[in-house]
Amino acid sequence: MSLPFIPVASPLKQYQSHKSAIDEAINRVLHSGRYILGKEVAGFEEEFAGYLGVRHCVTVANGTEAVCLALKACGIRAGDEVITVSHTAVATVAAIELVGAVPVFVDIDPVSRCMDHTMIESALSPETRAILPVHVYGQSAAMSEICAIALRHGLRVVEDCAQACGARIGDRKVGTFGHAAAFSFYPTKNLGAIGDGGAVATNDPEVSERVRVLREYGWKERYISSEQGMNSRMDEIQAAILRVKLPFLDEENARRRAIAERFSSALDRGSVIPPRPMPGTGHVMHLYVVESPERDALQAFLNERGIGTAHHYPQAVHQQGAYAGRVRGSDNLPVTERFYDTLVSLPLYPELQHDEVERIYTALADWCASR
Ligand SMILES: Cc1ncc(COP(=O)(O)O)c(C=O)c1O
Repeated sequence: MSLPFIPVASPLKQYQSHKSAIDEAINRVLHSGRYILGKEVAGFEEEFAGYLGVRHCVTVANGTEAVCLALKACGIRAGDEVITVSHTAVATVAAIELVGAVPVFVDIDPVSRCMDHTMIESALSPETRAILPVHVYGQSAAMSEICAIALRHGLRVVEDCAQACGARIGDRKVGTFGHAAAFSFYPTKNLGAIGDGGAVATNDPEVSERVRVLREYGWKERYISSEQGMNSRMDEIQAAILRVKLPFLDEENARRRAIAERFSSALDRGSVIPPRPMPGTGHVMHLYVVESPERDALQAFLNERGIGTAHHYPQAVHQQGAYAGRVRGSDNLPVTERFYDTLVSLPLYPELQHDEVERIYTALADWCASR
């Protein structure tokens, strides 16, 4: 009899593990009669700001708009250059262009897989206004170095924390280092809604107020637009669900780390390179991405054993049709390009059962032993 398939992600299992509290929260909203920007949103904003250790949190409709509104609120305008990475979800770059700003790529560090801060200064131009590091896969970028560069050159820093909710550098959470930070609550994220959601976190009251105004048509006063805004509101049901899950986030991130350690212990002597958390950081293992020179064969081997795999992502942003050949910096990304030939994501989420973890561990150990 074949064993049940283990998918790379399972938002359904996440719902099931909090089912009764989520059902109750949804019911509470249904019966409240208030479905948009009510007390669940206000409550979540306060609780999430408290969790991160920032003064302000403003929820928005999704992570892409969180990046976009964080940039706008930090004063980034059409034509301004924003330094970022090509190794990210396309949303990061799409959000920069939604502002009308111009992305500029720098390469990644081969170990952290985040922005290589030593490349930032050579990418600066008179138009550079901001640096947008991405805490990719749950690993924090080198924020003290990036913030020091920004300070030297008078630049704004917006952190893309979509993949790193709860990640730390020392005892400080990501999202507290830059002028503003963007979060996504897409269902597979470490803190996931049951639909779309996002947030901007900041210590700056002016940035927070601008996001609040921009997310609802530029209203400071109801129905009166003081500037051009949009609709990027989070709904009450999503906020209520996030309030159920937030108290479990640290525990679930710890479970992710423990599972990742188990997988990595199978790879210690093999040809497969596991994620290597940077010293002094609290990685939250949003995705468990390994590197293998034989990645197609490794995927086939795992799939044969009922273990799902994926590519995060199949192409770097500068390799995708919409961006190819037109983003400055794209011709100097050797580490990013090498990484994309070898990466494979394995299943990793807190609801993985002990026997599933052991099946994946054994498969990885057998693969390594066969090489
Ligand atoms: C790094 C990164 N930035 C931004 C986003 C955008 O988030 P959303 O899908 O909520 O718009 C995502 C999510 O896919 C992401 O992984």
